[in-house]
Amino acid sequence: MYKITIAFILAFLLTCFQIFAQTPTLVSQNGKHTLLVDGKPFFILGGQVHNSSAWPAFLSAVWKSAEYMHLNTLEVPVYWEQIEPQEGKFDFSIVDKLLKEARSHHVHLVLLWFGTWKNGSNHYMPGWMKRDADKYPNITGKNGKFYDSPSPLADATLQADIKAFSALMYHLKNADSQHTVIMIQVENEAGTWGSVRDYSQKAQHLFEAQVPAELLNTDILKALKVPVVSSGTWKEVFGERADEYFNAWNVARFIGKVAAAGKKEYNLPMYTNAALRDPLIDPPATQYESGGPTDNVIPIWKTAAPALDLLAPDVYLDGNERVLKVMDLYNRKDNALFVPEAGLNVVNAKYLFEVFSRGGIGFSPFGIDNNGDTSANRELKETLAPYSAEYALCASMLPQLASWATKGKIQSAVEGDDHKDQTVELGDWKCTVVFGGNGRANAAPVYKDPVGNAMFIELGKDSFLVSGMRCHIRFQPAGNDEGKAWQYLKVEEGVYKNGAFVPLRILNGDETDWGGPGFGDTPSLLRITPVTR
Ligand code: DGJ
Repeated sequence: MYKITIAFILAFLLTCFQIFAQTPTLVSQNGKHTLLVDGKPFFILGGQVHNSSAWPAFLSAVWKSAEYMHLNTLEVPVYWEQIEPQEGKFDFSIVDKLLKEARSHHVHLVLLWFGTWKNGSNHYMPGWMKRDADKYPNITGKNGKFYDSPSPLADATLQADIKAFSALMYHLKNADSQHTVIMIQVENEAGTWGSVRDYSQKAQHLFEAQVPAELLNTDILKALKVPVVSSGTWKEVFGERADEYFNAWNVARFIGKVAAAGKKEYNLPMYTNAALRDPLIDPPATQYESGGPTDNVIPIWKTAAPALDLLAPDVYLDGNERVLKVMDLYNRKDNALFVPEAGLNVVNAKYLFEVFSRGGIGFSPFGIDNNGDTSANRELKETLAPYSAEYALCASMLPQLASWATKGKIQSAVEGDDHKDQTVELGDWKCTVVFGGNGRANAAPVYKDPVGNAMFIELGKDSFLVSGMRCHIRFQPAGNDEGKAWQYLKVEEGVYKNGAFVPLRILNGDETDWGGPGFGDTPSLLRITPVTR
């Protein structure tokens, strides 16, 4: 009897907890952003599976990589063609399987809605839609040519997408009181490759009409770098960028409506992702996916799709300057930085600390599984290794690390393509980061690729938490203390446990004397206390 009562009370408390546990939410205040999961600051240490890996028979390889990486969030697609095989008949068995398995692996999910757009095409539309091209049309090219890209102006497509996506969100609301799913990606790299916009009769008619009043706002026009006017056609207002901006407006309006309908069922944070353009030049839209949320049309997307919490860059570009520029462009007062995809290679792991230093909310390499045995697949394991090492460290420091990120308390340095030393300003101190080599200034790098990084958190006066990979660091007095004699009072190596640094040893002698404390392939955690003399 006694046992039954206790079991009953525990079950009751668990149910209450699940009901009252807070829905994940993205809070933006004074231009700073925090992703709250179960009411606490959270950072997505993520990994995205390959496109066809969400099927039950292929999940075991996914979990193997997820475990190896120490990730806290798996990004995984939901396929429209699978959940609605017949019009109006929904099957959420795969979604339920994902929820169950994610819970047993203690991992959160970001679900990727592969709906109307997947990389600019309609390939995930159910067969009954693909067979009815008149009702669910693609865009028409300038010359009447066929393009493999759905039209953002097709109302039947929009209504069908809204219906399916709303059904998914309704299902989640009921199936996920635990909040395993923390965010939703609406569509995937939407836009149009090949043709800058739809040139169908309907599209042409709208293109020749007046630009909608919402877009003719002074701030938006200034941000789009065109003269401020109060009316005009697309061509009159936007000149040579008119075709692209028209497409961006229509794609964004479509996706904004899908997101808003989904939120009505279940209000989770939602975003969409961008196939990027080169951020260092201003290429014409014929050279990238037109209409997607590329950096130049962010103001259009923000106006057309307010239901989206953020626009996210997929980082497949090469070179430090490009990648850091992209991070700056998507880190805005009205847009939290989240990198939902980064090419899975040993170099990109270094950018994780850059997302923290910009107050971002998550980072995820793409294609973490190969649907083989990860532990037996040396190559994949080696590529995942730096992510795994960083994630293990960062996971131990959550939620504190996420909170420091929001408050702007984190600084970082990533090794440039030139491997040169970099200096980070830390108030009364500055720290030179020497990449590769043996820690001496400008020593030859021991790593061919620029794979080093360092992250600094100021804990208080003369006290810093520092981590990094493949670099050495050297503190020096700065500001009023510039040029003063100094030494390390203490360099402690430790771990982060239950919200506090726990020292394991004091580093001294060879570990600090020759070129400063250093980091190898695995990021250790140091608490450094320099002192002037
Ligand atoms: C970016 C897309 O968003 C992903 O779904 C996948 O197709 C990758 N490209 C492949 O590299």
